[in-house]
Amino acid sequence: MDSRVENYIRRGKFYVDGWLRNEAAQIIVALTERQRSLGIAGGAAEIGVHHGKLFILLCLLCQASEKAIAIDLFEDQHLNIDNSGNGDLAKFRRNLERHADSARLVLHQGNSMDLCGAILTRLADGPLRFVSVDGGHTAEITAHDLATAEAAVAEGGIIVVDDVFNEQWPGVGDGVRRYFDRQPNLVPFALGANKTYFCRPSHRDIYHDAAAAVSTVTATQFLGHPVAFLQFLRPRLKDRVAQSPAWRRLRSTPIGMPLRWAWHTGRTLRRGLTRSDDI
Ligand SMILES: C[S@@+](CC[C@H](N)C(=O)[O-])C[C@H]1O[C@@H](n2cnc3c(N)ncnc32)[C@H](O)[C@@H]1O
Repeated sequence: MDSRVENYIRRGKFYVDGWLRNEAAQIIVALTERQRSLGIAGGAAEIGVHHGKLFILLCLLCQASEKAIAIDLFEDQHLNIDNSGNGDLAKFRRNLERHADSARLVLHQGNSMDLCGAILTRLADGPLRFVSVDGGHTAEITAHDLATAEAAVAEGGIIVVDDVFNEQWPGVGDGVRRYFDRQPNLVPFALGANKTYFCRPSHRDIYHDAAAAVSTVTATQFLGHPVAFLQFLRPRLKDRVAQSPAWRRLRSTPIGMPLRWAWHTGRTLRRGLTRSDDI
């Protein structure tokens, strides 16, 4: 992984307001690397960039020849009908300069409802490799933005939609289902960490496997298609300590033995207390 990408995921992104879990960032990196290995090129775009939390990652993952298209209402927040985050152009620009650069940036301030695939393709100088849909969260806007993304995406392109299963934003799931009633040339292939991923049927298995390689997968179905539910099971602190080389060396020594005794005694007492509390 490129060191700028790694630094941004490990540190930089915590200084940018917005919504992007580490796990989602890892999946997006893995999918982009798979696209590179397949020779798939094209710009990246996001509808709804807010302060740039995900957009910066997309930008860092772009090649020099690829455009990065940032779409948001920004200062026209009176058009933000569901208050799905307030984009801020000054903060967005500052964050982008701090954590990436604006060499590839194509800025489009406006209502995504006025966009279509042809305009987005023109802004990117060609079909896109990656599109994130995270603007307005009503069913109507989501279905519209998904249509724009689908019309602009390259054959090996990927579309990621935020909040499809977020109960705070039921409009997003409604919009996705409404769009799939039209039977688009798109299939979902994975979901996890609040993002749902789509691509053309031709690339489904390739991207499914790329996402599965960096997570634990449960097979499930969405919109009548098999998808991977991506889970990121972190071992508990106790298990991490137990498996560490330092503890393995220490556990049978005169320091480790009383520590083990204290741990087991504490655990027995805690369990006793919990049981009597239950009664
Ligand atoms: C949830 S935030 C996006 C979060 C961002 N993707 C991130 O990485 O943190 C939603 C953004 O969509 C913008 N937005 C809302 N409705 C829009 C519309 N109709 N057209 C364009 N942008 C819109 C808002 O201004 C806000 O910045």
